[in-house]
Amino acid sequence: MTPAERDLRYYAALGLAAEASHLAQGYFSRRETLGTTMKGAQDWLTVADGAVEAFLRERLSQLFPDDTVIGEEGGGEASDAVWILDPIDGTANFAHGDRNWCISIGFLADRRPEIGVVAAPALGELYAARRGGGVTLNGAPIKVSGGADIARASIELGWSTRIPAERYIDVIGRTYAAGAAVKRSGSGTLGLCHVANGSSDAYAELHINAWDVAAGIVIAGEAGATINDFFAGTGLSKGNPILCCTPGLAVELRRITGIA
Ligand code: IPD
Ligand code: CA
Ligand code: CA
Repeated sequence: MTPAERDLRYYAALGLAAEASHLAQGYFSRRETLGTTMKGAQDWLTVADGAVEAFLRERLSQLFPDDTVIGEEGGGEASDAVWILDPIDGTANFAHGDRNWCISIGFLADRRPEIGVVAAPALGELYAARRGGGVTLNGAPIKVSGGADIARASIELGWSTRIPAERYIDVIGRTYAAGAAVKRSGSGTLGLCHVANGSSDAYAELHINAWDVAAGIVIAGEAGATINDFFAGTGLSKGNPILCCTPGLAVELRRITGIA
């Protein structure tokens, strides 16, 4: 893929994020009247998830008919030019009226993450990055906190029912024991973005899917975060652990979380 072809996709993603934000925010403002269903234990689905993904798929197929799309709700196939979508990340928050949710648009060329655009309209945050091209939040450059002292660190530990609660609790215990403060905000995508803007020092989760992190990996990477090789092995199709942190905390957090 040429730089011009990639840039075309970056600007398209920005436009799509704006339109999808409008659509999703409309659903959020009348969420009490929307139907919600459960895909599994603590795994929420609202009509907004399907509607936003359908909108993005339709537009991407018109704009880039040869690219493939993988979305949380509709699945899809990998290719040398693949879009990875999470229409609403933080759906449980969305359903509860918590504003910490976002739309995540990632793009991989030759299996390498190239573009990340994340819109969190209810927070008024738009993160945008191209690999090697820097990262912005609402148009201004951002970078990681630079924190290197675990005893002053604010660390987000993501959770889902895909991992036994005992393993999650074990990592929480080891993180507190090392002196860090622990939080969980309910959106893995924004967890990575908040490492990028320095409001967290790290995000870790023992299993997460590609649509949760594809865009955030570019965003956090461009902000200077150290990130494990998430797309190794079957990361794209089955997910992997994620550890994203300031460089100064990487060694200690690899030990604490067991994520290499
Ligand atoms: C989930 C959120 C959550 C993370 C889970 C994800 P969803 O995605 O990102 O924070 O811990 O691993 O599955 O269901 O809100 O799109
Ligand atoms: Ca998600
Ligand atoms: Ca989702």
